[in-house]
Amino acid sequence: MYKLAPSLLAADFGILKQQLEELERADVPYIHLDIMDGVFVPNLSFGLSVVQSIRKYTKMVFDVHLMIIEPERYVEQFAKAGTDIFCFHIEATKNAKELVAKIKELGMKAAIALKPATPISTIEELLPQLDMVLVMTVEPGFGGQKFMEDQMEKVKKLAELRSQHDYHYDIEVDGGINPQTLKTVFANGANVIVAGSAVMGAEDISARVKEFAQIAKDYNI
Ligand code: DX5
Ligand code: ZN
Repeated sequence: MYKLAPSLLAADFGILKQQLEELERADVPYIHLDIMDGVFVPNLSFGLSVVQSIRKYTKMVFDVHLMIIEPERYVEQFAKAGTDIFCFHIEATKNAKELVAKIKELGMKAAIALKPATPISTIEELLPQLDMVLVMTVEPGFGGQKFMEDQMEKVKKLAELRSQHDYHYDIEVDGGINPQTLKTVFANGANVIVAGSAVMGAEDISARVKEFAQIAKDYNI
């Protein structure tokens, strides 16, 4: 099922509350929260305190994308701050299996992100346990980059594996999604769509949300 997850990274933090209200009014189901530590990726963003404070203002599903090393250090704190989906990069941890179990034990959904150069084989044995797989369609670290079409093979393969084995994960794409590239990702089988600049940077956010929803409908997603 189609879910839009606008990325907070592209929001105007001076008017964060209004921006969240605008997304709620547009019936957006998820909000994508990019957490960066300046080590796993060459950029810093925001952390737990922002997640905690915006939790008070919205019922949207918190889709937390951790671009940090050793994400297991913060799993309890993110759960407490109101995270619904905890997504980590496979290279960032030494024991992904244990972390997936811990995420679930804390009542969150478990997701793993794949950087453009990271193959599906690195997470293959965890696929039965996952609620979502995030396919990066740009190098993680910054918003506003160009969509990498060569990642569609991975999306297609994940959809194939899911139907072959009866897995249940959603397939999320993140980076460079706009009304044009949206068609490509739907055609390949993604259903959870992160969009930073295309949605938060749009002149009319709700019109852009509607435009995305219409495309999802056209593709039966
Ligand atoms: C990049 C982040 C993305 C980013 C997407 O590391 O993971 O979520 O906000 O931004 P756009 O949609 O502008 O590429
Ligand atoms: Zn992200």
